[in-house]
Amino acid sequence: MKSIILASHNKHKVREINEILKESNCLNTPVIHGLEYLNFYDEIPETSETIAENAVQKARYIYDLFKVDCFAEDTGLQIPGLQGEPGVRSARYAGEIRNADDNINLVLEKMKNHRDRSARFITVIALYYQNTLYTFEGICEGEITLQRSGTKGFGYDPIFKPIDATITFGQMTAPEKNQISHRKKALDKMIEFIQTNIDLFK
Ligand code: IMP
Repeated sequence: MKSIILASHNKHKVREINEILKESNCLNTPVIHGLEYLNFYDEIPETSETIAENAVQKARYIYDLFKVDCFAEDTGLQIPGLQGEPGVRSARYAGEIRNADDNINLVLEKMKNHRDRSARFITVIALYYQNTLYTFEGICEGEITLQRSGTKGFGYDPIFKPIDATITFGQMTAPEKNQISHRKKALDKMIEFIQTNIDLFK
C-alpha cells in the first residue's frame, strides 16, 4: 500500500480524506499523511489568486522541498450574491487568525438581506507524481442557511446546506457528508486516475 503526503497541516482534511478513501473501496488505497509525517510545521505559502493555483502552489512547494509524491487540496466557498466571496479568501475571510466562527459570522452578516442564498464549495486537488502535475476538481452546490445548525464537520459546515439536503453539513455524520461533498467529488476523480494508472501506486 502506498502512502502519499497531503501538503496540509489541517487534521480535519487529513481525517476526512482518509475516511473517504477507505469508503471508496479503491484498489491499492493510499494512506494519506499530513505534513507532521515529514516533521514539517512551517506555513506553506498560499498567495495565489485562484483556488486551483493555490492547490498547485502548495503541492509544488512540498514537492520541491522534499521530492516526495504529494498532493494538496484547496477549498473555497463561493457565494454568487457576494460576488464570489469568500472564494480564495475563505480561510482568512474575517481576518488573518483564520477563525471559523468569525468567518461564519461575517458571511451571515453580509448575507442578512440577501434573497439569493445560493453557494457552492469548490475543491481542487493538485497531485505531483514524479514531477508531473495532475489536477482534479469537485463542486458541491447548495445554499447558505439563515443561521448555524449543527456542530459536526468544520469550517463553514454549520451554515452550508447542500442542494437536495434538508440539513447542513454541520448536522451530517461524516459518512453522510463524505458521500456528497466537494472533497469527495474531487477525490473520486483522483481515485479513478489512480486506478487507471495503477502502476504508479504499487
Ligand atoms: P483551505 O482549503 O484549507 O484553504 O480552506 C479554506 C477555508 O474553507 C477554511 O476556512 C476552511 O475551514 C474552509 N473549508 C474547507 N473545506 C471545508 C469543508 O469541507 N466544509 C466547510 N468549510 C471548509
